[in-house]
Amino acid sequence: FAFTPANLAWAKGQITKYPEGRQASAIIPLLWRAQEQEGWLTRPAIEAVADMLGMAYIRALEVATFYFMFQLAPVGTVAHVQVCGTTSCLICGAEDLIGVCKDKIAGSAHTLSADGKFSWEEVECLGSCANAPMVQIGKDYYEDLTAEKLRWILDELAAGRVPTPGPQNGRFTSEPLSGLT
Ligand code: FES
Repeated sequence: FAFTPANLAWAKGQITKYPEGRQASAIIPLLWRAQEQEGWLTRPAIEAVADMLGMAYIRALEVATFYFMFQLAPVGTVAHVQVCGTTSCLICGAEDLIGVCKDKIAGSAHTLSADGKFSWEEVECLGSCANAPMVQIGKDYYEDLTAEKLRWILDELAAGRVPTPGPQNGRFTSEPLSGLT
């Protein structure tokens, strides 16, 4: 693994933000940039980041395995679906969403679909409990979902279209909330 020249320059800039001896504090942005570059975090990528920061590989791996934002296996080229399976989402239908993922993507998490375009996993609370159940795809939240809505979203993505993120039941409004203007 090697950062592209542009990413390497960016990474070095991140490291200079921290005091001497505290370069390890830059690990999350560097891992994130490595993942953006490669699609997921390979062992060589984690090792390269650890070397840049003067850390042991195991310490970098500890960080990479702690957060759901980091992927340690290949993800779909079109979408990696992260289904929240915590209490609010579970009560409101997360198991149905996982069923859709098993049906349309792959029978088990962290497994590529047959065409390599999709993958999925169950994750802990994504902080959007009021709009349960929900999934995160890339940097977008799709909320207030039903199984049918998630099927439609996956079909749209497969067709090269990106559905509008946010609540999928019409509760979202771009109008200012009354009393807050
Ligand atoms: Fe699903 Fe919080 S429980 S977003």
